[in-house]
Amino acid sequence: MSGPNTSFDPKQVAALDGAAIDAMVEDATAAIAAASDLAELKGVRLAHAGDRSPLALANREIGALPPAAKAEAGKRVGQARGAIKQSLDSRQAELEAERDTRVLIEETVDVTLPVDRDPLGGRHPLTTLMERVADVFVSMGYDVVEGPEVEAEWVNFDALNIPPDHPARTMQDTFFVSSSDSGVVLRTHTSPIQIRTMLDRDPPIYVIAPGRVYRTDELDATHTPVFHQVEALAVDKGITMGDLRGTIDHFAEAMFGEGIRTRMRPSYFPFTEPSAEVDLQCFVCRGESVGDPDNPCRTCGSEGWIEWGGCGMVNPRVLQAVGIDPEVYRGFAFGMGVERTLMFRNGVSDMRDMVEGDVRFSLAFGLEA
Ligand code: DAH
Repeated sequence: MSGPNTSFDPKQVAALDGAAIDAMVEDATAAIAAASDLAELKGVRLAHAGDRSPLALANREIGALPPAAKAEAGKRVGQARGAIKQSLDSRQAELEAERDTRVLIEETVDVTLPVDRDPLGGRHPLTTLMERVADVFVSMGYDVVEGPEVEAEWVNFDALNIPPDHPARTMQDTFFVSSSDSGVVLRTHTSPIQIRTMLDRDPPIYVIAPGRVYRTDELDATHTPVFHQVEALAVDKGITMGDLRGTIDHFAEAMFGEGIRTRMRPSYFPFTEPSAEVDLQCFVCRGESVGDPDNPCRTCGSEGWIEWGGCGMVNPRVLQAVGIDPEVYRGFAFGMGVERTLMFRNGVSDMRDMVEGDVRFSLAFGLEA
């Protein structure tokens, strides 16, 4: 009977031979060093430390060894596996550090670069200007009122004492809805809002009415068939032209800065009596250019004044037309062109810029909420 094979030479298991194990470690170490990124290293880990790696396979052979040889072979394989694991771990740490550095550089956000996002629209400067005008009057106790843009001819003209033969009523100025005898027009001014307000309310009345108006004008640098006006109306006991003057001066200063002067020139409007044209002292040269050929002013043409709007004391016939007793109440009214005001205020020289809707025009006025 033979005893246990104590003389079994472990060298007979080729895979467990010291040189073979060293070679496996060398192979693995070379592959680990050659792995240039984490994905590659993952493959190397599988090949050299996975279940089917040469070392794992060699490890399985240990069971076949005689007990005396097992310990040594086990130690050898264990050390080899430990060495490979260490190399893998340190290469892993190296590659992770490299990746982190690269990501930090590649994904750097330069917060100083101009923003690249959809631009916000700008509100139209005419809109914001009309709101500003309304604010000025609201702070004096006025109400903001509106009226329809498609208006009865009677309200747009007759009630305002504009007789049928008045030039403003001819086809040249007025857009009629359907036909010229339809009795319905696109309002040619904001003054019909005076009529609607007085039909609606009892005095005392203090209202401001900004709005869009229409006239059959060709679009050019100084005309547009659709434009805006702002109308003011005050009806109360004891109203005088002094009140009108003071209110207009306050309005002018709010729009053009403290100290700006206004003047009234006698004029004619059917719905006011007396009537006046309101001129604004040229806010660029403040009148300095008058009679000074060396310093011409382009804004006022060296006139010193620019025409701003119309005004007057509400004609008693208008009060009568809306059922207000002119013996008890008096009123003043005025109307200004909003486009004109914007042109003066912000140096816009071509009206077409205001109607074309190019956002670059609006944006130049800033993004007002
Ligand atoms: N409605 C006039 C126009 O469009 C402007 C105007 C003048 C309005 C005098 C007024 C006023 O209220 O009193 O030309």
